[in-house]
Amino acid sequence: MQTIGFIGVGKMATAIISGLDKNKFEIIISGHNLPKTKKQAEELDVKAAENHEELVQQSDFIVLSVKPQVLPSVLSQLINHLSKDKTLISIAAGLTLSDLKHLADSENQPIIRVMPNINAQIGQSTSAIVKNEFVDDSAYEIAQRIFNAVGSVHEIAEKDFSTFAAIAGSSPAFIYMFIDAMARAGVLHGLPKDQATAIVSETVKASAEMLLQSGENPWSLVDKVSSPGGTTVAGVVSLEQNHFGGTVIDAISATIEREKHLK
Ligand SMILES: NC(=O)c1ccc[n+]([C@@H]2O[C@H](COP(=O)([O-])OP(=O)(O)OC[C@H]3O[C@@H](n4cnc5c(N)ncnc54)[C@H](OP(=O)(O)O)[C@@H]3O)[C@@H](O)[C@H]2O)c1
Repeated sequence: MQTIGFIGVGKMATAIISGLDKNKFEIIISGHNLPKTKKQAEELDVKAAENHEELVQQSDFIVLSVKPQVLPSVLSQLINHLSKDKTLISIAAGLTLSDLKHLADSENQPIIRVMPNINAQIGQSTSAIVKNEFVDDSAYEIAQRIFNAVGSVHEIAEKDFSTFAAIAGSSPAFIYMFIDAMARAGVLHGLPKDQATAIVSETVKASAEMLLQSGENPWSLVDKVSSPGGTTVAGVVSLEQNHFGGTVIDAISATIEREKHLK
């Protein structure tokens, strides 16, 4: 059985560990406060390592799930314990494969970069994955299985990670804004806010499901809902006149642009 070690046991690691089948993977965790790590290990039904070095020695895959600003100091402690038969997986936002290779101080370390999203907390992350040339097919397949346990995994080129981070990482905030605005309109026209929010949330969820299940283009579904001279097309035209599409595209571009300035 493969052993997966998680360094840093916060929101994201906890979500992933909760989704993993403990009969298929041995799991070991390491935080920065041993009594807390032992308590978390008990709650998650996994093993606790005394320290990061012990975790690396016992693991086939090391998932670096600390904050990006903490990762360099954590990885620097591990350099002497890494080897080519261990695969590093980083979920840290903004750190590239090249940054990670540099931090691992190794020319041929197998490294995988994954970008999950907040929906991992309900087992429905949309994650992006990319590997360097030292990861073999079997390790890559296992890494994909780890993240499939909490949702879907998309293989994308590393140059597209910032775009992915905007349309899958930040977009839940934009979708919540859309839901809230529509629910507020419901309130304006007389519905209680809680009920309006539930109605809109269910409709957004089912509309997304319809898109995924039908494989249709979104615009063809818009056309199907819009009867000639009807109510829906009046709303569609109003959204168009108020630059709905352009406003959303600008928000995604602003998100991508902001990430460039954070580097
Ligand atoms: N949350 C998301 O939606 C999301 C999405 C995509 C990617 N990510 C990435 O996932 C990573 C983790 O994010 P998160 O949201 O899970 O953050 P988090 O909840 O703050 O978890 C980070 C964990 O690392 C622990 N930690 C701090 N210093 C450490 C050290 N030296 N050694 C070991 N553990 C240490 C923290 O412990 P204490 O709390 O005790 O300090 C905390 O439990 C980040 O790199 C982030 O970019 C997160």
